[in-house]
Amino acid sequence: MSIFINADQASTASPKAPAVGEAMKNFIDAGAFNASRGIYAGAFDTEAMLYRTREQLCDLFDAPKIKNVTFTSGVTLALNVLFYGILQKGDHVITSSMEHNAVMRPLTHLRDDGRIEFSLAAADKQGRLDPEKIVELIKPETKLIVVTAASNVVGTRLPIREIGKICQEKGIMFAVDSAQLAGTYPISMREENIDALTVTGHKGLMGPQGVGALILSDTAADLIEPLVCGGTGSFSQLETMPEPLPDRLEAGTLPLPAIAGLSAALDWIEETGIFDIHEHKADLTAQFLRRISEIPGVRIFGISDPEEREGRVAVVSLQLDGMDPAELSQRLSEAGVLTRVGLHCAPRAHQTIGSYPQGTVRFSFAYNHSLSDVDKVADILKSIVETA
Ligand SMILES: Cc1ncc(COP(=O)(O)O)c(C=O)c1O
Repeated sequence: MSIFINADQASTASPKAPAVGEAMKNFIDAGAFNASRGIYAGAFDTEAMLYRTREQLCDLFDAPKIKNVTFTSGVTLALNVLFYGILQKGDHVITSSMEHNAVMRPLTHLRDDGRIEFSLAAADKQGRLDPEKIVELIKPETKLIVVTAASNVVGTRLPIREIGKICQEKGIMFAVDSAQLAGTYPISMREENIDALTVTGHKGLMGPQGVGALILSDTAADLIEPLVCGGTGSFSQLETMPEPLPDRLEAGTLPLPAIAGLSAALDWIEETGIFDIHEHKADLTAQFLRRISEIPGVRIFGISDPEEREGRVAVVSLQLDGMDPAELSQRLSEAGVLTRVGLHCAPRAHQTIGSYPQGTVRFSFAYNHSLSDVDKVADILKSIVETA
């Protein structure tokens, strides 16, 4: 019997939440009308769909205001809009050594342009970050601290709540890359003092590619300048960007079918319950860690203790003694198990955990996997080891 298990969910959720495809099709079949640009029923329906999706995101992330929810294509654009919109010449930024290139590349570009300086707080070999490491790097010029909520390489969570508290005490803005945590753990912008939450629709939120959000606190909302300028369908007498949000940050036509799909995915998350999603994914991860720790030659990176359910998400990285990670991933794929191999757009994280430059084979699981799927993946890995 042939097996197909997609253990590459950290790359993009596949399959998507059940009603996503239908919602996208329905939006297009109903006319795919633009928002804010017509005074007919279809345009109003689209406006209502947009409002509702902002409301859903606002509820899920306990954001201060619906108008502070602005759509982007994903985390990458949200981070760029944020960095270019708030950082001025001479500003200093602190980030961690576990970041994805979505954080590292725009920061490096801004630094090489002479606009900012940034410092890296070093995480330990498990990818854990001691908040004190951040405190040590704070200078009078520090304007922003930005960290990932969970590593896309080893799944380790970063101490968002504690860093948010530090930012509040020191009057520094706090931004979070939620790509690997959103949809699996509750995130509260208000309680965790997050000024800018960058969100992607296509991973843990189980929505389509092409849509995400930049959600702002009132402080960040007051400060941010637009990165992309153009038509908004509003204030058309102005040749400058309108002041009110979300319009100030949403030039051009939004990815409306993807937003309709995201809305359906958010409905699914609400119906399923974020705590149940987390519990199930934690069960899968614990089972996988238990099973692979018994396989000789497997070296697990990051947190390997199956009992550690809260400090991580369902992402596990490993190497196999004597086999190149690319060969292992290829063999897994031939046996029907999809994984991702290499540096996962996060070279600094691999340097931190000790897997640079060859990288790792990454396994990542979704709510729709079962414990028996995880067992099958472990069995296949074991048989590859035995026949190597
Ligand atoms: C931690 C992390 N940040 C950012 C991104 C980029 O997200 P997006 O595809 O929404 O631009 C990813 C996706 O791989 C990620 O894993």
